[in-house]
Amino acid sequence: MEAKRQITLAKRALAHVAARTTDSEAAPTTLRADTYLGEERLRLEQERLFRSLPVAVAHTSMLPSPGDFVTHDLGGVPLLVVRGDDGKVSAFLNVCRHRGTRVEDLPCGRGKKAFVCPYHAWSYARDGHLLGIPHEEGFAGIDKTTRGLVRVPAGEASGLVWVRASRATSEADADLDARAFLGTLADDLDGFGLASAHVYDQRTYTKEMNWKLAFDIFLEAYHLRSAHKASIYGIFFDNIGLVDRIGPHRRTVFPKRSIRELATQPDEVLGTTLRKHANVLFHLFPNTLVLVQPDHAAVFHAFPDGPARVRFTSYTAVPEPPTTDKARAYWDANNAILYGATNEDFALGESIQRGLASGANDEVVFGAFEHALAHFHAEIARRLA
Ligand code: FES
Ligand SMILES: [Fe+2]
Repeated sequence: MEAKRQITLAKRALAHVAARTTDSEAAPTTLRADTYLGEERLRLEQERLFRSLPVAVAHTSMLPSPGDFVTHDLGGVPLLVVRGDDGKVSAFLNVCRHRGTRVEDLPCGRGKKAFVCPYHAWSYARDGHLLGIPHEEGFAGIDKTTRGLVRVPAGEASGLVWVRASRATSEADADLDARAFLGTLADDLDGFGLASAHVYDQRTYTKEMNWKLAFDIFLEAYHLRSAHKASIYGIFFDNIGLVDRIGPHRRTVFPKRSIRELATQPDEVLGTTLRKHANVLFHLFPNTLVLVQPDHAAVFHAFPDGPARVRFTSYTAVPEPPTTDKARAYWDANNAILYGATNEDFALGESIQRGLASGANDEVVFGAFEHALAHFHAEIARRLA
């Protein structure tokens, strides 16, 4: 993040700390409880969000070389994402053009020369074109050049691999401009070194809650004092946070008590130390969180797995791959704190899901200073309308 922006954010945070105030809107808002419930709602979200928008599915460092790949079922669509010989990532529907079998079953792999369907062994190159058909004599008149894997848009921006889970309509459409989608957040993320980071401690897990709760529980500072009393509250303030909307995305800044040190510091210091004195949390719409910490970032991708279940992939984006026990112990100790606190959040998210499913509340209320949640849901509503 550029110095000027860090200075502005640090000063805004310091002003709130001095006045015991927080970013806020004028009034509270409400949201219908059934926003979190039901198959029909999820079907719409899959169609209008997860299959229509650029969505980050991996970190760039997970597929560094040609033939490295990941598979994904973004939006309920089987996808294969491959780094090509030209160094660019391409994505395809992971569906055999013979009779429709899933071509690649593994979640990820390295240096693959060809993808071979497990059913009758039709094979596909890294660029998706159809390489070979066993017993080809039985397919007379079938044009192999039109039977490559079907492309979907893919691209890289700010260290993340982005895919749109719907057929590419043209060559140009297949070259996904995720940077444009991120807007000025791309510069923020680049400035924090996400693009050159390495993935450590990748975890996959499910929680019994609607995918949107996975974001609601992270986007306000109102819960810190009560929900994290026994863990991380001591380093933060009670209900002090900054919220900025950047296109459909959000940037929130939760200052740490240590930020008071900056009150007497010159701009040169403020311009480089925001991440040390605040949690800077980016919500990349719809379903990625990047939590910037003093010397690394934690990344969470959350995908719906039914109306009341969410599947997370999360990892620690660290500046160097840890190669010693000491380095691993350092990041492990960090992650013990991170996942200790996030598990407190997840338990509350699951509690909310059960509560809303009971029918007790027709609506939920967002306080004026819980406006990041209101923005998030308003953005979804706009795209579903
Ligand atoms: S379905 Fe893939 S080779 Fe037959
Ligand atoms: Fe929390």
